[in-house]
Amino acid sequence: MSILTCPVCAQPLQPHERTYTCPSGHAFDLAKEGYLNLLLPTQRRSRHPGDAPELCRARRAFLSAGYYAPLRDFVAARVCGETVLDACCGEGYYTSAFAADGRAVYGFDIAKDMVRLASKSDKRAFYFVAGLHSIPVESGSVDTLTHLFAPFEDAEFRRVLKPGGTLLSVLPGEKHLWQMKETLYETPYPNRETPPRTGLRLLKTERLRYDVDLAAKEDVLNLFRMTPYSYKTARDGEAKLCALDSLRTTVDFVVLTYGKD
Ligand SMILES: C[S@@+](CC[C@H](N)C(=O)[O-])C[C@H]1O[C@@H](n2cnc3c(N)ncnc32)[C@H](O)[C@@H]1O
Ligand SMILES: [Zn+2]
Repeated sequence: MSILTCPVCAQPLQPHERTYTCPSGHAFDLAKEGYLNLLLPTQRRSRHPGDAPELCRARRAFLSAGYYAPLRDFVAARVCGETVLDACCGEGYYTSAFAADGRAVYGFDIAKDMVRLASKSDKRAFYFVAGLHSIPVESGSVDTLTHLFAPFEDAEFRRVLKPGGTLLSVLPGEKHLWQMKETLYETPYPNRETPPRTGLRLLKTERLRYDVDLAAKEDVLNLFRMTPYSYKTARDGEAKLCALDSLRTTVDFVVLTYGKD
């Protein structure tokens, strides 16, 4: 049984060969890579919502080098239950690690290019294009909802979780990329670790902090492109970073576990 619902009328969607239909006859075809586009044209605020393709490529190259594998394993070890949904899954780097026998794993993102990449390389999870503000998924259907470095949508997160379900939310810690920030800025500031405002119950706060050795210039630049600093850094700071051939920097993550009563 699929947990997907029709983005037009919110009734359940059922697969018939390569088409998903609801009882009212709204129909959505699987793309050749195997994902479903459930984002209606009226829900798009731009022609290409979500992260830009060059950012997708930088993120894919950086993540596939394995620097964030400890974080992926840390989160995967905390995922439980039969039905898992990765909100704003990007190119599926984390989503793909959540698969386990007898578990249904779904991932969605508003950026179609990311969903296409995810679905091309990972056949164990099911990917769809959708926006956070109206997630086309049955209420009370998800055991673990994961959410890494993305906007938070409290009402929808609470709606899709089963009673007793878990939300795992990851945000950057105060020392995240500290040495990169020291290269970019005269006076770097630690990140504020502000937890999201939510009606879910915070059960646990954990930290994962370690150093990564970015051995190649390309890795340094890809990581920089993935950060918000890439569009708010003055030119001389950016030039200093671009001159580096390697960088050792701390990565610092806060993993919040929430429960739905
Ligand atoms: C920083 S990336 C994180 C991606 C992935 N979770 C990861 O850690 O690799 C944020 C993602 O949120 C997606 N996003 C932004 N706004 C969204 C929205 N309203 N609905 C769904 N996805 C959204 C972007 O397209 C992007 O892929
Ligand atoms: Zn419908």
